[in-house]
Amino acid sequence: MEAIWLGQSGFKIMEGKKTLLIDPWHKFPPGNVLFPREVRLDDADVIAVTHGHLDHFGETMSMAGKLEKTKVLTNYELMMFLMEMGVPKERLISMNIGGTLKVEDFEFTMTQAFHSSGIGEFGPKQLVYGGMPAGYVIRVGNKTIYHAGDTGLFSDMKLIAELYKPEVVMLSIGDVYTMGPKEAVRAVAFLRPKKVIPMHYGGTFKLPGDPAIFKEMVERELGDGVEVLVPKPGERLEL
Ligand code: NI
Ligand code: MN
Repeated sequence: MEAIWLGQSGFKIMEGKKTLLIDPWHKFPPGNVLFPREVRLDDADVIAVTHGHLDHFGETMSMAGKLEKTKVLTNYELMMFLMEMGVPKERLISMNIGGTLKVEDFEFTMTQAFHSSGIGEFGPKQLVYGGMPAGYVIRVGNKTIYHAGDTGLFSDMKLIAELYKPEVVMLSIGDVYTMGPKEAVRAVAFLRPKKVIPMHYGGTFKLPGDPAIFKEMVERELGDGVEVLVPKPGERLEL
């Protein structure tokens, strides 16, 4: 399995001939300053969205209607929103927290996230209810990964570890809207993955959580069992 970080919480995951995008965000205002421009978004077989905020859902909102074969996986409310925007319903798939569903070669379990999920423009428009925010445990090939979405720390991450045993986890470390490095280190202790990739830091919103500090804290507090990967946007990782 190969993965490319797209800045913020966006990842492109490739396994065999199938491609998954998680929370892709590029141009949708205010735009993702970290987005690697050489990476295509229009060749995905599946897009999975964690919640309604524009740095996660915005690009899917603007491009889902134009793509022909891409399936879009969201919670029920975001699916209804896309349907009302005219995205054909045969390409929309919804699930909710606790459930497991296979889409193409990817098996998703939707997990809780402590966050919010309103859909709105950056402006004085009224927010639309976007359902519950989420993360995903994803099984593909012989790997299990866990993308936590935007979330604060929660101790039921221990249950995610016990039930699904993810080898690779993506955790928000940017602070302010999600966990910062200190809380994310505790999340790593709960999840005990082989590899952890920090996300949702720096970038457009200048989120202060520092991946170098996170890496140093994981190594000091948890030892050699966990490898912290800090990819540049656009860099290909073999996982
Ligand atoms: Ni958010
Ligand atoms: Mn966010």
